[in-house]
Amino acid sequence: MSKLAVIIPAAGSGSRMGARVPKPFLKLRGVSILEHTIRAFARVDEVDQIIVSTSSEWIIEVKTILENFKGEVKSLDVVVGGKERQDSIYNAFSKISVEIDLIAVHDAVRPFICKELIKECCETASAVGGAIVAVPAKDTIKKVNIDLVINSTPDRSDLWQAQTPQIFQKNLLIEAYDSAIQEKFMGTDDASLVERIGGVVKIIEGDRRNLKITYPIDLKVAELILDERGEE
Ligand code: C5P
Repeated sequence: MSKLAVIIPAAGSGSRMGARVPKPFLKLRGVSILEHTIRAFARVDEVDQIIVSTSSEWIIEVKTILENFKGEVKSLDVVVGGKERQDSIYNAFSKISVEIDLIAVHDAVRPFICKELIKECCETASAVGGAIVAVPAKDTIKKVNIDLVINSTPDRSDLWQAQTPQIFQKNLLIEAYDSAIQEKFMGTDDASLVERIGGVVKIIEGDRRNLKITYPIDLKVAELILDERGEE
């Protein structure tokens, strides 16, 4: 069985939510979104290490949350995040243990990821290099110019919406990040960094419950999903 380290970027400001507290620390039925997310990974046998990247003001809070998982996960760490998501993830690499085979990156604000999808990504990443959870695009996507005039409409049947987890062989992901930093490339997900150095990344079809809690409406949906699952 591969040994998996999970990096959870949780250093965003939460500006789109309009709340004072950053999104990962908002409560869902009394428990922070971050804690729900960590729990989803702590249940998976492959997970040996969890590293949360957060802003300096939230380090103590994250340490308190991680205390709840002692004994369940071999190694639990927190690091200070950076300006962009990509910087927050890169900072976590310093904590990766030598015996780790695979690294998963998973947004702190996607608490509903299921065990089966994590395992399937691990198997595929071990075989080909990388695997990410994604869903087919349900809306038609438009490419526009600066004046919002449409330039083109890509064929929707080829388009997928990338989610997380995004799981990669350790050395491949580290090489991709080193190269991106050196060449000042900023991607909006981890796969894009691996793709640009020629790594193979496959899609694993996920489900729409794995939502990214971004706007106030998403919190309402998240409560409904939790209630349906009968969890606190
Ligand atoms: O805001 P965005 O959609 O990029 O957030 C995705 C995830 O990345 C969130 O879990 C957020 O906390 C995290 N993030 C981060 N460091 C940043 C920006 C976002 O860890 N500088």
